[in-house]
Amino acid sequence: MADRKSPAAPEQWATRIGVILAVAGSAVGLGNFLRFPGQAAQNGGGAFMLPYFISLLLLGIPICWAEWTMGRYGGSRGFNSAPGIYSVIWPHRLAKYFGALALLIPLVIYMYYVVIEAWCLGYAYDYLVGNLQLGSEPAAYQQHFDEFIGKTADGFIYEGGNNTLVVLLVVVFIMNFACIYRGVAKGIEDFCKVAMPIMAVCALCVLVRVLTLDRDKVIAGLGSMWNPSAEYLAKPETWLAASGQIFFSLSVGFGIIVNYASYVRRDDDIALSGLTASSVNEFFEVCLGGLITLPAAFIFLGAAATTQGTFGLGFNALPNVFAVMPGGRVFGFLWFLMLFLAAITSSISMLQPVIAFLEEGLGLRRHASATLLGLITAFGTAFVMYFSKDMAALDTFDFWIGTMFIFILAMIQTIFYGWIYGIERGDEELHRGAHMRVPRFVQWILKYITPIYLLAIFIGICITSGPGYYKTLSAGGVPLYSVIVIAIVFAFLLLLVHIAGRRWEREGRLKF
Ligand code: ALA
Repeated sequence: MADRKSPAAPEQWATRIGVILAVAGSAVGLGNFLRFPGQAAQNGGGAFMLPYFISLLLLGIPICWAEWTMGRYGGSRGFNSAPGIYSVIWPHRLAKYFGALALLIPLVIYMYYVVIEAWCLGYAYDYLVGNLQLGSEPAAYQQHFDEFIGKTADGFIYEGGNNTLVVLLVVVFIMNFACIYRGVAKGIEDFCKVAMPIMAVCALCVLVRVLTLDRDKVIAGLGSMWNPSAEYLAKPETWLAASGQIFFSLSVGFGIIVNYASYVRRDDDIALSGLTASSVNEFFEVCLGGLITLPAAFIFLGAAATTQGTFGLGFNALPNVFAVMPGGRVFGFLWFLMLFLAAITSSISMLQPVIAFLEEGLGLRRHASATLLGLITAFGTAFVMYFSKDMAALDTFDFWIGTMFIFILAMIQTIFYGWIYGIERGDEELHRGAHMRVPRFVQWILKYITPIYLLAIFIGICITSGPGYYKTLSAGGVPLYSVIVIAIVFAFLLLLVHIAGRRWEREGRLKF
């Protein structure tokens, strides 16, 4: 039974392909199809791709390997949650509190990510039943989107008589929790094994359709995505955006990979599995996300497509394109179904690290941990839904957690790996059971280059976005309330981690 988790029968992935698909499923998400094209278009197209690939090689893939290594090591010492894993990496009473950050990040990202997931499900349903053929007037789609998500006023979703989104959200919550409840192998792994291929087929169908539309406009769209505008390379914002995209997209610094890797058997490969999962993510991002969204938007909007931003491209520009293309209703359905599947395989991965902690830290059974987590996330999501005006709560959560804190956690993890655990041990652990050799210089990159690169980016974000955010926060209102909510959740997690630590010490699982 899934709810009778005991140290004698630890949860494990059933198959190697399953764990790769689960990690890839966590990585491939809305970031690949919405965030990536939006970021690339706004940051110089091809010029964005150079820092993007540099960040992939110096930050993304090395930190992924570090997370896989620490995760499997922690799992082999009987821990699946970040507070426990960090405590065996750094046997010190303070280590577990850093793990609270690795619970906060997936938890808060889930709170708003799942809202966007519900939008995708709603749009997929609307295409299926034919509610989204609103003609070829761009304003109609903008208005539909704004009304659907309650962008014009706070509380619109609950008070405005349009409670479709609430119903969708309930459905999405049930799906996420049903999956998590079944456990890693029977829930997450089985779901990802089905969802990932369906997602790929949907994406390929939409890709072929888009690339066989108006040839000249498709080429112009591809040009805007890929031609480098040299002046952007000199802008720090381009470098910040590119590395932020790598982190968000690979789910690095989320506290997810350490948790997923802890369910890998002690002698199973992690080197090639880690690289394969990252490569699958890059295929979805660069080859599918990068070739669909912007070229499609270009066909309809021309150069204005580049100014659409993350949600504008996916929810306004593309429905415009579907409205005028042959078979648009079917392709609209496939597009939003694919977005929904991409989102749900990521959102379940945000719940698992916290479920694992509630079970092993507080000794809760599966139904109790799922109920507690359900209540916390429902509160956060209801907050995001209520303060829907101009997506203020969603944007604030995304800035603090989905941008700032993932850098901080990544930095903490590279210090844990490179300077505390040690690259010698890391290299040995990474290669136990490995199906490939990871070049030695990757360890040196992890020890020296990655932390410096991360620090430089972090300082860059503070300088470029800090003053603006400080002003926004000083003005009070929703951004301030959102930060207070984050602080309350963090304080609560720190308390739970403290209780868990004492419990582990009492049980002799941690010795200092
Ligand atoms: N990695 C996930 C995404 O790209 C969170 O959406």
